[in-house]
Amino acid sequence: MRSLLRLSDLDDETVASLLSRAGEFREVLRSSSPTAQPLSGSTVANVFFENSTRTQMSFDLAGQRLGAKVLNFNQNASSVSKGESLQDTVQTIASIGADVLVVRHSDVGVPAKVAGWTDKAVVNAGEGIAAHPTQALLDAVTMIDRFGGIDNLRVGVVGDVSHSRVARSLIHLLGRLGAETIQIGPPEFLDSDLDAVSRQSLDEVIAGLDVVYLLRVQSERGAVPESDYGERYQLNSDRFGRLSQSAVVMHPGPVNRGVEIEDRLMDEKRCLILDQVANGTPTRMAVLEWVVGG
Ligand code: CP
Repeated sequence: MRSLLRLSDLDDETVASLLSRAGEFREVLRSSSPTAQPLSGSTVANVFFENSTRTQMSFDLAGQRLGAKVLNFNQNASSVSKGESLQDTVQTIASIGADVLVVRHSDVGVPAKVAGWTDKAVVNAGEGIAAHPTQALLDAVTMIDRFGGIDNLRVGVVGDVSHSRVARSLIHLLGRLGAETIQIGPPEFLDSDLDAVSRQSLDEVIAGLDVVYLLRVQSERGAVPESDYGERYQLNSDRFGRLSQSAVVMHPGPVNRGVEIEDRLMDEKRCLILDQVANGTPTRMAVLEWVVGG
């Protein structure tokens, strides 16, 4: 059993292999052909201490497609409300019979702690503001599907970068795959430690972008936008009209319509948000297959 805690733990060959395998699984799912079942006899537990729609459901489906039994831990209905600790909770779920623990938690470092508390495979499904590796992988799969590769793409990551685990994992991965990444937002939403050029004006760079990757303002993590945030950073019709004809719009979701993106742009053909969601299941199939040794 292997774990996926951070993309920085993986060598380039493994990253390339996961992206390629995700593409293969996507084609299998599109063709409705039967899928090999390398997780037959295995149990995957989704252990989410934070809410999720996309990540939890796609890990659930990915496990099922690969033949695993899937358990979904519901924190609100669990014995956490009786005072059970995080360590006791995950060790209990492991002892019940999970082979893979897919973990989401608001605190940085929890997936690594879980990996230290059990001998099971652990997959990071979202770790505070630090990392969301499978989101970055599925985003890369989406870009490769659209552009044929990532090398030399210009990707603008727009908005609340500083509170975003998605941005941290994505910027790391894009840098390794040869893209040029620009983080765009007000100074309080940027992070100078990231491998990305910083810009405060979306209008100055928008025409040169291949991908506009929008982020939600993460108020649950303390982000408070200035009153002119929408005026300066929302992707509206005017800004969409200044994109190159081949440029696309992406967003990890959930979207706050009317904040980071004008409502009607969600229906544009070059808005790939639902393609990203669709790539979640095959990407997580590739990760689950890899952690069990495939
Ligand atoms: N992108 C993402 O992690 O979405 P969920 O919170 O719905 O899983």
